[in-house]
Amino acid sequence: MLVTHTQQELAEQIAEWRHHDEHIALVPTMGSLHAGHLSLVELAREHAERVIVSIFVNPTQFGEGEDFDNYPRSLERDKRRLKKTAADMIFAPDVDTLYPFGPDKATTVSVPGLTENFCGAARPGHFDGVTTVVARLFAIVQPDVAVFGQKDYQQQLVIRRMTEDLSLPISIITGETVRDDDGLALSSRNSYLSDEERAIAPTLYASLQSVGQKLQAGRREFVELEAAAIEQLNNAGFKVDYFAIRRALNLEVPDRDCDDLVVLVAAQLGPARLIDNIVVTI
Ligand code: PAF
Repeated sequence: MLVTHTQQELAEQIAEWRHHDEHIALVPTMGSLHAGHLSLVELAREHAERVIVSIFVNPTQFGEGEDFDNYPRSLERDKRRLKKTAADMIFAPDVDTLYPFGPDKATTVSVPGLTENFCGAARPGHFDGVTTVVARLFAIVQPDVAVFGQKDYQQQLVIRRMTEDLSLPISIITGETVRDDDGLALSSRNSYLSDEERAIAPTLYASLQSVGQKLQAGRREFVELEAAAIEQLNNAGFKVDYFAIRRALNLEVPDRDCDDLVVLVAAQLGPARLIDNIVVTI
């Protein structure tokens, strides 16, 4: 497995693969890789002969007072983990490579609408940072396929929209959320949890499942279901940011007949902001 920090080396390797008519999949990450990321790498490999994993803790998607400085960075460990997967190359650029004019002077890609609610409302500017860096990675790597995790449900919808809106010739694939045995979705931010908080954390997924079962059983009083879940989670020790039942396609408020729903939650638990979701197909 190759590791490069420069655009030049990346371009040379990609040119060689392209010369052999090989397809390229990109798995963008911020490192601190866990089994969820590794499953995205294996999924990527099903869609392309070559898999590039980018590792870059992107400053422009963190707001003031957020955890950019403390975000876990572990390139050596990430390399060891990726060596055991189908990854062909790690691209770990520095800030100047991705933002030649500096992050503050960067041309920004912004997706209106889809980014206004949920994580977009709670973290102003976050999705502009995500789409800006993903657009740059897409421009540099020019992959055939890019793979994102379902755990960041809103993010993958936003990236799909950006890709379609800009007519980028890239297929976006979404990989399933990988969970610990007790249901907690794997996340680099789980490392912020104390033992006590870690014991409470699976309640988040349990609340999603409980609402999912009620929806499957025909319940449609969305607002009441959301309110009850928020109360339950707040009582368990979370500070719920949002708990919402929405149309899976576009996060709009569903009507009673909608068959494709997503239940989304974000909540603070101690120092960690946790997000999770389930798709409920009736
Ligand atoms: O999901 C993430 O890890 C990041 O938001 C991404 C897509 C790598 C962009 O920095």
